[in-house]
Amino acid sequence: MMINRKILTLDEFTIRQLRQFPKATGELSSLLRDIGLAAKRINVEVNKAGLVDILGDAGSINVQGEDVKKLDIYANTQFTGVLQHGISCAGIGSEELDEIVVFDDEVSNNSKYVVLFDPLDGSSNIDVNISIGTIFGVYRRLSELGKPCTTEDFLQPGVRQVAAGYVVYGSSTMLVYATRRGVNGFTLDPAIGEFCLSHPDMKCPEDGKIYSVNHGNFFQYEEGVRNYINGCQKKDKNNGGPYTQRYIGSMVADVHRNLIKGGIFMYPGTIDKPGGKLRLMYECNPFAFMIEVAGGKATDGKRRILDIQPTELHQRTPFFAGSKNMMEEMETFYTK
Ligand code: AHG
Repeated sequence: MMINRKILTLDEFTIRQLRQFPKATGELSSLLRDIGLAAKRINVEVNKAGLVDILGDAGSINVQGEDVKKLDIYANTQFTGVLQHGISCAGIGSEELDEIVVFDDEVSNNSKYVVLFDPLDGSSNIDVNISIGTIFGVYRRLSELGKPCTTEDFLQPGVRQVAAGYVVYGSSTMLVYATRRGVNGFTLDPAIGEFCLSHPDMKCPEDGKIYSVNHGNFFQYEEGVRNYINGCQKKDKNNGGPYTQRYIGSMVADVHRNLIKGGIFMYPGTIDKPGGKLRLMYECNPFAFMIEVAGGKATDGKRRILDIQPTELHQRTPFFAGSKNMMEEMETFYTK
């Protein structure tokens, strides 16, 4: 039988990457394997969400004041569980939890990473069969090895991420992750239950034709944003507009599409919520890291997202990210 050895699984790929660093301990590869396992378990439940009593509100409100769906809780438990049982993670911060969880056992206290994640982003879309996702960022802890990790390990600017990624549960399930060396995408082959390298060395096109924003909030945005959006709808000999508007309302799916096709994603501040809606630590930092490694840009309209020093776990930020030239064009409207 012919075996196609051109297809690398997630494990094979991360181990090959590891071999390029003779001093590497393998902890990051092990962590990514753990995340892949949680993603596969969540994927099984997402796929049968319409069939079983796992769909719908769990009846509680999360720390952001939003309804918690049952799958949110399931995804949070799976992620926390695999990271706690693994050998690489000293503690986690989750969008679903008020406080960090310090694992505080002998193995975990000797682990060098902490992970921040949004276990199920876009969960208001679950009951209408729209793509949802998981987002994660990995940081090397600052506290002393051998001791429990601390809040300081989590409140690091995004530029210090060692790796970041997302899983999109869509028409197929994909895990995309970035280290400083590049962004790679893996598609789940359901026949063998493995993530297989399908999108090696992903680059965000420098130009794009898609803009993604919630138009319903248009009159809530500040003038620079409104002018830019108006500009996107005009024919312009410089940018070749008008651009196409695409907004799913599920950040993972919106940014995934723009990363592949080129485009700009925006969640600006509004009059009522100047800090916007998206969470710096769980959503914006991981995507900013991936988009920058892929050649794009990510800002809060004025500052680079990755340079923001977080002051609290659940802080929000306006978010603009995508193709380099579209981002630079948007910035000219902000500074006008
Ligand atoms: P949720 O997880 O509560 O469904 O929020 C999803 C996030 C993000 O994924 C998406 O881009 C944004 O909220 C959409 O918010 P609006 O509906 O306000 O546009």
